[in-house]
Amino acid sequence: MGHNSPVSELSAAFVRLHARLAPVAFVPEVRLHQADEPIGLWELTEGEFRSAQPPPFWAFAWAGGQGLARYVTDHPELVDGRRVLDLASGSGLVAIAAARAGAAAVRAVEVDERAVAAVALNAEANGVRVDAELADILDSDAGDAEVVLAGDVFYSEAMARRMLRFLLRAARAGARVLVGDPGRAFLPRERFHELAAYDVPVSEALESVRVKHTTVWELDPNPPGARR
Ligand SMILES: C[S@@+](CC[C@H](N)C(=O)[O-])C[C@H]1O[C@@H](n2cnc3c(N)ncnc32)[C@H](O)[C@@H]1O
Repeated sequence: MGHNSPVSELSAAFVRLHARLAPVAFVPEVRLHQADEPIGLWELTEGEFRSAQPPPFWAFAWAGGQGLARYVTDHPELVDGRRVLDLASGSGLVAIAAARAGAAAVRAVEVDERAVAAVALNAEANGVRVDAELADILDSDAGDAEVVLAGDVFYSEAMARRMLRFLLRAARAGARVLVGDPGRAFLPRERFHELAAYDVPVSEALESVRVKHTTVWELDPNPPGARR
């Protein structure tokens, strides 16, 4: 879908209307269109379509994304001069952090049309270039990406299964693969080693707590116990 199609214009208008540009709690270097009131926006999205509409993930900086964006911002050498893929980009937080840290190119992939609009608006607001793409690439590969980043993607079993397969293919093809995760149920920890951990401020209305302990993990391409 083209950037200026009527549908993407409508999505951009929706993002502007229901979220306001504000610094991210744990990565204040980045400003995003964020919703103040999670529940209200959720109901509105549901009410408008009366269907299995995805919740407005794009309107919040999830703990996993905040931790990963913090790590990328503090360790720019990870992405500097490299081609980066931010998978399940949501607001675009991690993609924007990578672009700010000097990535040669950043591709942000999402399955939610409004997230794609939010990524484009948020990249523009932060003065960086991010290529936002509406696609489900989990059964495919990471293309020419040298670094693959995924913030907060292990929250459902079905998603986690497909995600892990995709990320393992990318790691085995030579990419560095990092995820940010606040202890979601379906993260296969034995596949990863820890790079950093942070206490990340989150929306109490979304997470029932004010702070989530969040780990930045790097995926090991080989199964645990296998010889390298
Ligand atoms: C919890 S949000 C995390 C967003 C962002 N990475 C962050 O940390 O703030 C998960 C995101 O995954 C996206 N998503 C779900 N399935 C996907 C898929 N197959 N491919 C790409 N994105 C997907 C959702 O639309 C949602 O925006």
